[in-house]
Amino acid sequence: MGRFFITTPIYYVNDAPHVGHAYTTVNADAIARWHRLCGEEVFFLTGTDEHGAKVAESAAEHDMAPLAWADRTSARFKAAWSGLDIAYDDFIRTTEPRHHRAVQSFLQRVYDNGYIEKGLYQGLYCVRCEDYYTEEQLIGGNCPVHGTPVSFMEEENYFFRLDAFADRLLEWYEEHPEAVRPATKRNEALGFIKGGLQRISITRTSMHWGVPVPWDDAHVFYVWYDALINYATAIGYGSDEERFARWWPSVHHLLGKEILRFHCVWWPAMCMAAGIEPPANLFVHGWLLFGGEKLSKTMLQRLARSAEELAITDVAPDVLTDDFGVDAIRYHLLRAPLGSDSEFSYDGIVARYNADLANNLGNLVARVATVVGSKCGGIGPAPDPRSPLAAIADEVRVEAAAAWARFAPHDALGATWRLIGGANSLLESSEPWKMEPGPEVDAVLGSALEALRIVALLASPAMPATCAEIWRRIGMAGTPEDRRVPDDARWGGYPGGLAVSKGDPLFPRRRD
Ligand code: MSP
Repeated sequence: MGRFFITTPIYYVNDAPHVGHAYTTVNADAIARWHRLCGEEVFFLTGTDEHGAKVAESAAEHDMAPLAWADRTSARFKAAWSGLDIAYDDFIRTTEPRHHRAVQSFLQRVYDNGYIEKGLYQGLYCVRCEDYYTEEQLIGGNCPVHGTPVSFMEEENYFFRLDAFADRLLEWYEEHPEAVRPATKRNEALGFIKGGLQRISITRTSMHWGVPVPWDDAHVFYVWYDALINYATAIGYGSDEERFARWWPSVHHLLGKEILRFHCVWWPAMCMAAGIEPPANLFVHGWLLFGGEKLSKTMLQRLARSAEELAITDVAPDVLTDDFGVDAIRYHLLRAPLGSDSEFSYDGIVARYNADLANNLGNLVARVATVVGSKCGGIGPAPDPRSPLAAIADEVRVEAAAAWARFAPHDALGATWRLIGGANSLLESSEPWKMEPGPEVDAVLGSALEALRIVALLASPAMPATCAEIWRRIGMAGTPEDRRVPDDARWGGYPGGLAVSKGDPLFPRRRD
């Protein structure tokens, strides 16, 4: 049985979960569900990043101890994911003892291998990035990511000899041309490496909210250094070597483009320094944008203050799912091409909801059930092996599988929706509601039911609850998740003779 290990970044607990975080998590969840449907053993990891100055500051602002604050915000992430039907296999918190142990054993190894040394660090620091910048990197004297002021910091700390890995990283990139995708992001990472690597400061004495350095208790590790290791902790690094070896290095890291350097340069070098293989797959996605800006908590708060921009306050995931339904929001997030930036707007959700979900999928489900009720006594007929839909279904099955496999849920769904469109066209051209009951009507309706069965299978990673409901309405036992692709998605699987039930519209049309 194949194995599939996928991760999201672990989210900072200084922010409440918003739709930008949901974008990554829903994509990872849908891709993980696809691999389960393929019959693979899947391990889907997400979690929260709970150390560092930023978290300590947020806690202090709320008059709380850092751990109590982290408990509260981490729970909010878990609640958000449960509200979006996210089926993760593990939720890691970096404050857990298992993580502290793994970080200490990982970095002790790097230290013992001679890649960590002591030195004096001076630089311009952005607390929100938890990262240092050079003068040249600043924009108008401010942090290039947040646009907020940076501060001068000086401290004695330990350095990781990133500079010692430039050649090995370039070699690794050469030998693994597909490791970082898309290619534009691979080139960006190569640009960082070729631009020259410097040793990086990886410990702090100025604050204490972090994992203690095992060989020097005056220091804690810099938050990024502990955070990246979560991917190793969760599969047993340092505690269960057999388990670790089963899952590593064939991981798939999904991450936003602003954390490319940490994942595609630092992390592979850290792995090399610890004597393990770098992660095999890194997929870098774009941002959801609102008016061309990254959709961040700060921006939401700012926009929330102006009445005419009220719609954007709806971008907390639960507000959106209460409004449109969980699967409609999952679908919307999954239709944004994963490798590039996408505009996100309330009107955009409404437009896609009406076009794809209400008019296409919802309409097909309702029409088929109604006509099966009036022309076939509510019993679904078997599909026609010669239906024009059979050829479309064959094509769509192959295309959707290839798209899911290359981390392109938007293309997988685009293909799947062609089968829905084909079934709607078949109904419109043959108008079974005007025909006398008989073999001709049966052939059309059986084929439309078969198209729905295949759609419910192929779209189930995106819309698990809706697809299970379609499955039930066309009379199939169990849920699509009990089946396997590609075999069960071949034309002819709908047996016929099943009771087809009507129900409330799956996606009532929106007027706003
Ligand atoms: N804690 C670090 C990651 C450590 S991983 C070892 C971090 N956390 S974060 O809370 O800021 O989350 C960043 C991630 O959230 C991005 O990489 C991306 O996956 C997601 N997104 C946050 N805002 C986003 C958008 N506006 N659009 C798309 N994804 C966004 O960085």
